[in-house]
Amino acid sequence: MNIAANPVVEADQTVYLKDYQKPSFTVESIDLDISVYDDHTRVTSTLKMQRQTDGELILLGRDLELKSISLNGKKLTESEYGLDEEQLTIAQAPDQVTITTEVIIHPETNTMLEGLYKAGDLYVTQNEPEGFRKITFYPDRPDVLSVFTTRVEADKKYPVLLANGNLLETGEAENNRHYAIWQDPTKKPSYLFACVVGDLAVLKDRYTTSEGRDVALEIYAIEKDIPKCHIAMQALKHSMQWDEEHYGRAYDLDNYMIVAVSQFNMGAMENKGLNIFNTSCVLADEEYTTDAAIMRVQSVIAHEYFHNWTGNRITCRDWFQLCLKEGLTVFRDQSFSEDLQSSAVQRIDDVAVLKAHQFPEDSGPLSHPPRPDHFVEINNFYTATVYEKGAEINRMMSTLLGKEKFRKGTDEYFRRHDGQAVTVEDWVAALTAGSGVDLSAFLKWYNQPGTPKLEAKGEYDASTQSYRLSFKQSLKAHSKYPDLKAVPIPVALALFNAKTGEQYTLQSDALFENNVKDGVYLFDQDEASITFTGVTEKPVVSLLRNFSAPVNLEFNYSDEELAFLLRYETSGFNQWQATQTLLERILLDGHDANVYIDAVKQTLPDVIVKDPLLASRLFDVPTEGYLGSRVDENYQPAVIHEDRESLLDTLARGLGDFCKETYLSLDPDTQKDFSQAMGVRALKNIMLGFIARQGDTSVFDLAYSQYQTTENMSERLGALRVLVWNDAPQAQEVLQDFYNRFKDEALSLDQWFMVQAAHPNATETTIKHLISHTDYDLGTPNRIRAVSGGLNANPVNTWSFGVDHFLDLAKFLDEKNPIVGSRLLQVLTRWYTLAEPQRSEVKQKLEALKAQVKSKNVSETLNSMLSV
Ligand code: ARG
Ligand code: ZN
Repeated sequence: MNIAANPVVEADQTVYLKDYQKPSFTVESIDLDISVYDDHTRVTSTLKMQRQTDGELILLGRDLELKSISLNGKKLTESEYGLDEEQLTIAQAPDQVTITTEVIIHPETNTMLEGLYKAGDLYVTQNEPEGFRKITFYPDRPDVLSVFTTRVEADKKYPVLLANGNLLETGEAENNRHYAIWQDPTKKPSYLFACVVGDLAVLKDRYTTSEGRDVALEIYAIEKDIPKCHIAMQALKHSMQWDEEHYGRAYDLDNYMIVAVSQFNMGAMENKGLNIFNTSCVLADEEYTTDAAIMRVQSVIAHEYFHNWTGNRITCRDWFQLCLKEGLTVFRDQSFSEDLQSSAVQRIDDVAVLKAHQFPEDSGPLSHPPRPDHFVEINNFYTATVYEKGAEINRMMSTLLGKEKFRKGTDEYFRRHDGQAVTVEDWVAALTAGSGVDLSAFLKWYNQPGTPKLEAKGEYDASTQSYRLSFKQSLKAHSKYPDLKAVPIPVALALFNAKTGEQYTLQSDALFENNVKDGVYLFDQDEASITFTGVTEKPVVSLLRNFSAPVNLEFNYSDEELAFLLRYETSGFNQWQATQTLLERILLDGHDANVYIDAVKQTLPDVIVKDPLLASRLFDVPTEGYLGSRVDENYQPAVIHEDRESLLDTLARGLGDFCKETYLSLDPDTQKDFSQAMGVRALKNIMLGFIARQGDTSVFDLAYSQYQTTENMSERLGALRVLVWNDAPQAQEVLQDFYNRFKDEALSLDQWFMVQAAHPNATETTIKHLISHTDYDLGTPNRIRAVSGGLNANPVNTWSFGVDHFLDLAKFLDEKNPIVGSRLLQVLTRWYTLAEPQRSEVKQKLEALKAQVKSKNVSETLNSMLSV
């Protein structure tokens, strides 16, 4: 290997946004030749480059064995270039150069699942953000766009050879080998390059775009999984049409390929015309995957498809801008999904994810702005903050603008920046120019960390029939981002007549958008107030409707007012929001549970008929994990567990016969659509849980027969959970049966692992048993996540024997797969809130890990976690 000594001692590895510089060379075109052999892969690439600024010519490369390099046809000797572990540099390159390099790489031993790697019998790539430099020497940064021509060659035992773009040529090569040449006509950054070599079957379909382009659609998977690809295919066609209708964006190539792979670090990847998907995000089938997974498949398919415009045609200037493409694309896929199921429930689920993951992240040591201004390892910034808070910023702007103006803004964005690599500022400026509304203040949301606290107070004056709402906002101080400013907060609100339950028509000059009843007040000061007139009775105010801003609202509601909102609010989301506030008060502040029980009992029968999925969400008792994240000190997981258990018991008792009656009266097979059937299944499973709590042992027969008679995974799993988690006499039998049925179905088997790991009384032995099972595999992130995620469903377990489990994983993966290792370690982020002596014990273990890890991924996370 040819690696020159690296003179720079591992000093500070932090990269800063302020240091951004344009690349000194552009790449007009790249010709890649990738030849796969069993024990190595040879990559030859020829780059045509053109100088655009002064400076060295820099090609990034990592773990590459350089065989030869030539410049403008002349072989270079070792003294004519510099080479270290990160890059190859040529000090005085001419303005126009053609550089050819030949390297050897080892996908067959690549366990990091980054760059080109072998997953089982399949070779695939994952290049975002910095994987391409592990394939060949290249200016691997998103602001270098080029035309890629790729020749892929392999043994014929791998009949499928794919890369981005159009297939130009196929042919035979020596020694029973063959090749294919692909060319992608659109200029793209290297992180969007993909290639696939393997033996896969394919599901084909077609779509004609609004511009009349006939597109071949192909989903590749192993043969037996092809029947599980139909839902994804439908979702793909639906997404293509949805983007035409809602954003005026049509697809731009003649083919769109998706490849399913069982070993993948993340959900999926939007490579141009050749998406690569974790099987968990593309395979969907009622028999093998749950309703939730089916919904997720559709939203991830949409997400990756939508990236074609927001991410690929318009990409990021640098990785600090990641939320430019991710925040916008998540917002787009959430909007798409709101059309697929009960839109209230889609919003409920998105807000639940935000509050369960992003809010805790943003209140602890890993807190960062949606657009950070420094990082050590960019892979650590594919976070809930970048994705989910990023989406909320776009939602806020779209709420303020309304549909029409928002569309004018996005049209302007596509008009200005198609084919470019841009910044968050460019996006906000285009929205502003297109809509005619100045949105520049929203940049503060991108640049600041922390969840704002929004304190509101209401005062009714009967003599003037007016109601005054005053607001105050604040952000927790942050050592790395000291200069925090007030942000623009759109507060969607409504006033209800407390006597009649009717909604007032809002009268106030200060409303931003006032479409008769649904008002939005733009609060953008440290403090301000708004007065409503014509309020004839003391009102009940509903604030932050549809969760119009990602803030922590503090308003002194009485429990009765919250019960009132559950009853009279006009949208399902707002009803749910009232239940969540009520439940949080019961669980964290010791309020009486009866107000909630009575209100739910009153409201539910109606809701069950109209929207069973929404009905199921009204029973969302905040998880122990979420409740724990609301506690900033002296956190005792066991206390929260006890309190939550006792609330559930009270609820079960309070609901009485309602549970069994509801269970027996509902039938998913007679519902009008998938969303309703999914709701009925969810409700039935919840009721099973309550019946078990009531101590009614007939529940085991109900669950057992539900398990045996269904062909639907959500029903089967719901029944399995109740049996296993309650240690029913049938538990071992059904577990064994589940295993026998699904042992060759990886995604279903993940559920089998998860159910057992999530047993409330799981012990260290349970987990040891699972991770020494023959089907457990540390090379398959989905399997690791099944057990770890299951374990973490019970924070009492996470914070006892779970601590060592996660530390061991982080240590092991630090070397094998640091991206996943860093993620799993983050489960322990809130260690500092624990009550003593646990706090010090965990801290000591984290400190001890420092010396044992090497990767930038795990080290950066560990250092940040300990920096409280
Ligand atoms: N861009 C992908 C998406 O659609 C995610 C890629 C994540 N990759 C990573 N190395 N963290 O969201
Ligand atoms: Zn994305």
